[in-house]
Amino acid sequence: MPRGLFITLEGLDGSGKTTQINRLAAWLKKRGHRVLVTREPGGTETGERIRALVLDSRSKNLAPMAEMALMFASRAQTVAEVLLPALAAGQIVLCDRFTDSTEAYQGGGRELGSAVVLELHRQLCSGLQPGLTLLLLPSLEASLARARSRNERTANESGKDEGRFEAEQDAFYERVWQKYREIAAREPERVVLIEGDLSIDEVHEQIVEAVAEHLAVLTAAAKA
Ligand code: TYD
Repeated sequence: MPRGLFITLEGLDGSGKTTQINRLAAWLKKRGHRVLVTREPGGTETGERIRALVLDSRSKNLAPMAEMALMFASRAQTVAEVLLPALAAGQIVLCDRFTDSTEAYQGGGRELGSAVVLELHRQLCSGLQPGLTLLLLPSLEASLARARSRNERTANESGKDEGRFEAEQDAFYERVWQKYREIAAREPERVVLIEGDLSIDEVHEQIVEAVAEHLAVLTAAAKA
């Protein structure tokens, strides 16, 4: 069993996860914790190559099942190469997206359903579950506007194209959004839902509160 703590951040594109994960990492480090930050898809050298392939708008007509398989290929590598060793070494691991993303985007957005995602997770990722998931759900409109303008900027500045998902229609994102809410309702113990159009500081405060509470419960359990 892993000794460390595995925390994931989830949410729609443009929900501000990346800013928040960096702030949370800094907050934890300041308190003396050993922290590792990673992301999905990506996280390893092989995973980053899969990421480039799956997010690039030039990957045309990618079949939903192929898309899901690529997400899991990246994740299985991250689990083996990064997550299990870090957790075994007692680190706090913060992961920007994990299997909830696949359930929301491929299960919900692409309408593949939850069952296949959960089964693949069990088979390919050692069933590794986050101890805590922070789900950021600002309004659909605000997230999409932010994600689309950011992607245009990145493409212009670096020539890197990660826009394949942002080009999706609003109905796709509504299904993603619904599936995220379904996951939160199904697993209220694990998933902390942070809703509404809050400021970066307000979201950070809610995140820190949830993490501090989780750490306090774990410390109390370890002493008992
Ligand atoms: P990410 O870089 O986290 O995007 P953002 O910073 O915009 O939130 O994730 C890239 C995209 O990959 C995002 O549109 C969601 C998608 N994705 C899936 O469709 N399935 C998955 O399993 C994962 C991990 C990501």
